[in-house]
Amino acid sequence: MMVTTDVLIVGSGPAGAGAALLLSTLGIPNLMITKYRWTANTPRAHITNQRAMEVFRDAGIEDQVQADATPHELMGDTVFCTSIAGEEIGRILTWGTHPVREGDYRVASPCLPVDIPQNYLEPILVRNATERGTQTRFSTEYLSHRQDGEGVDVLVRDRLTGEEYTIRAKYLIGADGARSMVAADLGLPVEGAMDIAGSMNITFKADLAAHVGHRPSVLYWVIQPGSNVGGIGAGLVRMVRPWNEWLIVWGYDINGPAPVVDEAAATAIVRNLVGLPDLEVEITGTSLWGNNEMYATRLHAGRVFCAGDAVHRHPPSNGLGSNTSIQDSYNLAWKLAAVLRGQAGPSLLETYTTERAPVAEQIVKRANRSSREFVQFFEVLGLLDAEDEAEMAARIEERKANTPAGAAKRAALVSAMELKHYEFNAHGVDLGQFYSSAAVVSDGSTRPAPRRDPELYYEPSTVPGSRLPHVWVGDAKRRVSTLDLAPMTRFTLFTGIAGEAWVAAAEKAGAELGVPVTAIVIGPGRAVTDLYYDWARVREIEEEGALLVRPDKHIGWRSVRLPGDPHRALHDALSAILGRS
Ligand code: FDA
Repeated sequence: MMVTTDVLIVGSGPAGAGAALLLSTLGIPNLMITKYRWTANTPRAHITNQRAMEVFRDAGIEDQVQADATPHELMGDTVFCTSIAGEEIGRILTWGTHPVREGDYRVASPCLPVDIPQNYLEPILVRNATERGTQTRFSTEYLSHRQDGEGVDVLVRDRLTGEEYTIRAKYLIGADGARSMVAADLGLPVEGAMDIAGSMNITFKADLAAHVGHRPSVLYWVIQPGSNVGGIGAGLVRMVRPWNEWLIVWGYDINGPAPVVDEAAATAIVRNLVGLPDLEVEITGTSLWGNNEMYATRLHAGRVFCAGDAVHRHPPSNGLGSNTSIQDSYNLAWKLAAVLRGQAGPSLLETYTTERAPVAEQIVKRANRSSREFVQFFEVLGLLDAEDEAEMAARIEERKANTPAGAAKRAALVSAMELKHYEFNAHGVDLGQFYSSAAVVSDGSTRPAPRRDPELYYEPSTVPGSRLPHVWVGDAKRRVSTLDLAPMTRFTLFTGIAGEAWVAAAEKAGAELGVPVTAIVIGPGRAVTDLYYDWARVREIEEEGALLVRPDKHIGWRSVRLPGDPHRALHDALSAILGRS
């Protein structure tokens, strides 16, 4: 038996289901297989950053995600404590909820970060992908693949019947997670190591509203004896549903024997971290997992592409796992669609690695650094060499003392808290991804030097390679984001009234190349007007100039002024981006 499709996707996690959703939205036939009978069975990733929300907005599912998510305003009062009911060491307003930072987040995007556990997100992605055309096969396992000049033969096994069959696809996406067989079979080069620390997840139900409702957050970090062994830097009580479903992440020494986490052991860990010895707890699951620090330096070979944890493996710190996986697929989907439709040359696909491999390296390093930086808390509190629990408690207590040692400890805690902004308010890491590749045509300009720390702060720019800046535009009746005006189904050219000659240029160049290009003129009396005069402030081009935005909302090219022959300039730029020049 031989089944055929344009794109075969292995995996229905955020990367795989994201790719299926985007490809189906673009009208590309695709088939998604996944090993298990359903989607993720535990909450796993949850922080959903603005860039991922923008992808969902573009795909028309933002409202569905919001309906199942914990909203931004309940995400932020992140607490550091000795237990939830015990001593509080400090709080940090996270994910852009500090009033000062909230402005940065609101100005940068039409979307705010939300918290949606992976077992709620995946069904939304899979349902919408399947409704839009994806053939979804559960309980179907990837076994091997062989590629030739025209396509890929993928051997799969139906896990219910044991039957093996071959799927012939023009392209294969390996979105099969951190133990990716596709990436291994492809021999993608990797840097780093797997299983550098051990973590255990315990999911449980308990009503903690009285202890957290007044300081609502998705994360409560617990500094206790043993909480810096293995794991993700400290013990973690994570909200799954406010305020009665939770997930604990606790570490273990991965070099020793794997711990047995039966119901009694799990209940003891929960009660200990919550700090209530008699807490009524329902344990709903436990699992062990390894922390990784590994990224691939090449993300594809020939007709096979890997996305998500298959090519970047790291701890959950900074909440980058699911977000980056979705963004990989956003980068890849329009390129595959353009090549499959004959609108782009196959060299466009090379830019998937060029653009996303640096992101993979960046986020793996950032997440691991954030996890390690927890040691600062243990250091400044003097806990690293405390002999026992009593000594640890005494040293934590010392921060209250009216003594030079107490004052020094309080000052050091201020610095330790500051450092955690790089994990919890790293807005520049979330939104500042910049691409240099053959699918970005330089206008000779360089990126402006950052005025503030580029990891903490996102700075909009229209230098080719940047994400299209968001501002609100519209008319007297509606307000739309500039991002809404550049949907993934086409290239979009932004200009002003003095640049109206670009409209005909875009029509002609698009028709010649067989690629949809729509020009948007922003100005009074036109389809959209610069409501707040913000567009004039961020566009970095003259009113007569133009910005060419790719389907993934990165700027592919710009012209600061109106050239003598705008059609020729645009035609050349588009041809270069599409690998046709
Ligand atoms: P993902 O692992 O989600 O999906 C892989 C898919 O491939 C699955 O659908 C699987 O069925 C399928 N598959 C695998 N092998 C296959 C085969 N041979 N044939 C067919 N299908 C196959 N992140 C975070 O930010 N916070 C957190 O708390 C956690 N916690 C956490 C716990 C556990 C137990 C895990 C495993 C992971 C996390 N993560 C996490 C990481 C986060 O879940 C991860 O970054 C994203 O799920 C990555 O998405 P992907 O789609 O790349 O892989």
